[in-house]
Amino acid sequence: MKRHYSPGFTSMAVSLTSLLCLSTVFLSSNLVFASKDCKFPALFNFGDSNSDTGGLAATFESPVPPYGETYFHMPAGRFSDGRLIVDFIAHSFGFPYLSAYLNSLRSNFSHGANFAVAASTITPPSSILPQGGYSPFELDVQLWQFMHFKNQSQIVKKLGGIFADLMPEEEYFAKALYMFDIGQNDLGDRIFRNLSIEEVNASVPDIVDSFTTNVKVISLSLSVSLSLSLIIGIFD
Ligand SMILES: *[C@@H]1O[C@H](CO)[C@@H](O)[C@H](O)[C@H]1NC(C)=O
Ligand SMILES: *[C@@H]1O[C@H](CO)[C@@H](O)[C@H](O)[C@H]1NC(C)=O
Ligand SMILES: *[C@@H]1O[C@H](CO)[C@@H](O)[C@H](O)[C@H]1NC(C)=O
Ligand SMILES: *[C@@H]1O[C@H](CO)[C@@H](O)[C@H](O)[C@H]1NC(C)=O
Repeated sequence: MKRHYSPGFTSMAVSLTSLLCLSTVFLSSNLVFASKDCKFPALFNFGDSNSDTGGLAATFESPVPPYGETYFHMPAGRFSDGRLIVDFIAHSFGFPYLSAYLNSLRSNFSHGANFAVAASTITPPSSILPQGGYSPFELDVQLWQFMHFKNQSQIVKKLGGIFADLMPEEEYFAKALYMFDIGQNDLGDRIFRNLSIEEVNASVPDIVDSFTTNVKVISLSLSVSLSLSLIIGIFD
């Protein structure tokens, strides 16, 4: 079955009213206190291959050259020969590149975690890897993983020892930058199943609703209220 990992054309984003200090940045929990100079202690990312820094590679199969060729000089779990936008953002904040939540090797979550997995969707996909074409880590699964991470990372921190320093501080969660780059595979799944353009178009409101619901769950878990506006970007 055809797999749709490749960085593609559509991404979906939530923006914090007009406080867009980066073109792909959306939800900051500190809406009221958002700093104009973009100072965030951590970065949490959700998405598909556009921002996967090793989730699919840790779970199914690794990308092979020419992925990784230009910058890392070897495949680096990314579906890009160089760095991804999320890498440039992490770098500009002075953080290490975001470790994939699913990667149990050499991960350092001190400044956030990446829940993105290539081939992920917002709504349940028609088939999942390894037999089917899409990631089983759809957005609500990425959200459960985030909730688990939020709780467990603090337990690890309290226990001390070698893993404690690899976890974010508790207060980072409410002050972090939350990014979402997902949605292209929802459309791709429908298009590759030969749905008509009208049918694909008609499914967009459900996809957007599901996206909004997931983002609200995150904001509720952070105990902050958010004013969200949705942007569906077609970039390619
Ligand atoms: C994890 O990342 C932090 C922030 O860059 C760094 O200070 C720390 O040394 C790293 N830990 C390890 C074990 O690499
Ligand atoms: C996280 O921890 C809180 C408080 O200890 C608990 O109420 C909640 O059920 C936990 N959530 C998960 C997903 O484990
Ligand atoms: C979609 O249509 C193409 C061209 O008619 C056909 O080759 C392909 O098998 C169809 N795919 C599905 C999933 O029905
Ligand atoms: C797409 O759906 C919207 C409603 O969600 C409708 O207003 C629009 O006319 C549709 N466009 C096409 C090309 O079907």
